[in-house]
Amino acid sequence: MDNRIIIFDTTLRDGEQSPGASLSVSEKIEIARQLEKLNVDVIEAGFPVSSPEQFDAVQRISGEVGVTVAALARAKEIDIKAAYDAIKDGAKKRIHTFSSTSDYHILGKFGDERYGKTLEEKRKTVLQMSYDMVQYAKSLCDDVEFSAEDAGRTDMNYLAEVIEAAIEAGATTVNIPDTTGYTMPAEFGAKIAQLRERVSNIDKAIISVHCHNDLGLAVANSIAGIENGARQVECTVNGIGERAGNASLEEIVMALKVRKDIFNFETVINTTEIMNTSKLVSGFCGIIVQPNKAIVGENAFAHESGIHQDGMLKNRETYEIMTPDSVGVQKTKIVLGRHSGRHGLKARLEELGYNLDNEELNKAYEAFTKLADKKKEVYDDDLRILMGDNIYKDESLFDLDYMHINSGSNSIPTATVRIKSKDHMFEDSATGDGPVDALFNAIDRALSKKPKVESYRVRSVTSGRQALGEVVVRLRKDNKTFSGKGVSTDIIEASAKAYLQALNLKEIYIERNNNDATKAI
Ligand code: KIV
Ligand code: ZN
Repeated sequence: MDNRIIIFDTTLRDGEQSPGASLSVSEKIEIARQLEKLNVDVIEAGFPVSSPEQFDAVQRISGEVGVTVAALARAKEIDIKAAYDAIKDGAKKRIHTFSSTSDYHILGKFGDERYGKTLEEKRKTVLQMSYDMVQYAKSLCDDVEFSAEDAGRTDMNYLAEVIEAAIEAGATTVNIPDTTGYTMPAEFGAKIAQLRERVSNIDKAIISVHCHNDLGLAVANSIAGIENGARQVECTVNGIGERAGNASLEEIVMALKVRKDIFNFETVINTTEIMNTSKLVSGFCGIIVQPNKAIVGENAFAHESGIHQDGMLKNRETYEIMTPDSVGVQKTKIVLGRHSGRHGLKARLEELGYNLDNEELNKAYEAFTKLADKKKEVYDDDLRILMGDNIYKDESLFDLDYMHINSGSNSIPTATVRIKSKDHMFEDSATGDGPVDALFNAIDRALSKKPKVESYRVRSVTSGRQALGEVVVRLRKDNKTFSGKGVSTDIIEASAKAYLQALNLKEIYIERNNNDATKAI
């Protein structure tokens, strides 16, 4: 059996389903370019039928990169057609369709009697639907992946039957997701081994694994799957994803590399791009990587205790099983200052994984010069944070033009803001419990909006007294969360930017939905 492991990255699809991790189309394209540099085999770019933005993002990514782009579709004609339309002009394309196969999912999603009266009848319907829809996908695209959603909790005989049918209908990859992160490594590994025994046509497809991290076992389960015959692994950068996330790409890749002595599996990942990719994804999604996270956490290569430091000085292998360089961790450098020019900025950004067109470079340079004036020494991490701060935002309805805040120990905090839109200036003042509350109240009054703030988070993202402060604000409307991020050396200004960005996303969403509703009528 071949020992090459296909890395299927689903950061832009399952990863983007992390609460609050909404990305603009331009940010997704930038991440896709970086994933290509990382040398993943497949990029799952989104779920085209779910919204016009998803369709647009998948279509643009598939025109942008040379690696295989997968588009997700439920086992429904309308989904599969949308997935195909989004990727059809791309260099390499895959339709990824899925059905729910566990009894929990079948009873939950196919409760209606038209799918059958008994569980047995409903299972038959799902089996037939899976077969028909894989066949339909195959009529459009050669490369078809089928997933049995919640395979981790699916009856083994039924799972084998569905997988066999999907392969017969033309699936070239069959994915076994542990959707709810329920299984244990030995159990999940045995599932893959049993499928290899029971599915008569299994040699006609590649087995894939897709594990969620609800019990912290996504990486262990993925590796157990590989040990038992899976040759594709689905994962996300920094392990982001629904609930507790997906299996982390960097952990799987480095586990296979560092323990080649026992596994002898190969990926073609360019591991020195891991850190750049991690920072890019974290910056754009506004999801902070925990400091002790394996491989990409801030402390992953830090040695605090004297004994450890001493051991490291004598021989780094005393406490390090891989070198920081091997995953692209570099010592922080002062790279640029206020006299640096556009070329210097562009070159450094390219090294960090950002490829800018002229307009983006203009925005980045403007933000950089403002920061360099305040900060004098601009570090790589400052640049990364700047790039996450609106450079790639596609559209905005409202921008901050001016703000003034009054706050002190014995005074009522007051804020005045002026906000510009395409053809209006909005201005108003308000008081609040603190300067941030006063600021948000002033913005609400100026725009006559009162969004529900789900969360507000502030942190320092670089070091020293002149560190950049990053604010992430999440607003909620119905069941949807909109997050905005702002950075500045002034955290009140960062708060205003973050609040307005989230508000912009919410208003754009409402506007689009209203338009779609009108079209539907
Ligand atoms: O977790 C899951 O089951 C999925 C499928 C759509 C592959 O994400
Ligand atoms: Zn998933």
